[in-house]
Amino acid sequence: MPIELPDSGVPPASAVPSSSPLSRRTFIATTGVVAGGAVVGPSLLGAAEPATAAEPAAATAGPGSRVSLTVNGTRQTVVVDNRTSLLDLLREHLGLTGTKKGCDAGACGACTVLVDGRRANACLTLAVRLEGAEVTTIEGLAGDKLHPLQQAFIDQDAFQCGFCTPGQIMSGVACIREGHTRSAEEIREWMSGNLCRCGCYVKIVRAVQQAAAQGR
Ligand code: FES
Ligand code: FES
Repeated sequence: MPIELPDSGVPPASAVPSSSPLSRRTFIATTGVVAGGAVVGPSLLGAAEPATAAEPAAATAGPGSRVSLTVNGTRQTVVVDNRTSLLDLLREHLGLTGTKKGCDAGACGACTVLVDGRRANACLTLAVRLEGAEVTTIEGLAGDKLHPLQQAFIDQDAFQCGFCTPGQIMSGVACIREGHTRSAEEIREWMSGNLCRCGCYVKIVRAVQQAAAQGR
């Protein structure tokens, strides 16, 4: 038969069957110990300290390798986890944050750099495979003055937020060197791996055309 509760919602003592193995006093004493243990914490109870944040990272660290490469004309020798991408090497180890991390999966082109003169998605390139390579990033493009394509992006107002711009410029530099600038359609085709969420494509093509006209 169901037990009817009073307005307070607390069952009267008489409502708890006397045969119940768990009395109200036993219940409170038991939960009090459990709750108290949770509040006091493991250190005062003599239990082992929880793992620090650094321990899991150390436990998941993979084997590392030494790699020597040239970045923007400077020889760099670093020891990196074998799984480190060129993008993370540039941004996290060398502090070259001009190369952007968009999708980190080879789909947006924000991380485009030049490796031995050819464009590459840095997020898909393993750093340990670049022994002896020459890498050029957006930071290494300008000399005493801006690279003509950098200047052309300014002249043509070819960006809004600018997040895609370093990758667009690196890709555009390669596009010009490769000779894929005979028409706007050809530039669009050969720059199609570089996405711009701000939709600046028309002006980006104009900027590439401007720099291409200077042979750069
Ligand atoms: S971050 Fe490398 S392609 Fe998007
Ligand atoms: S300028 Fe904003 S994503 Fe291209």
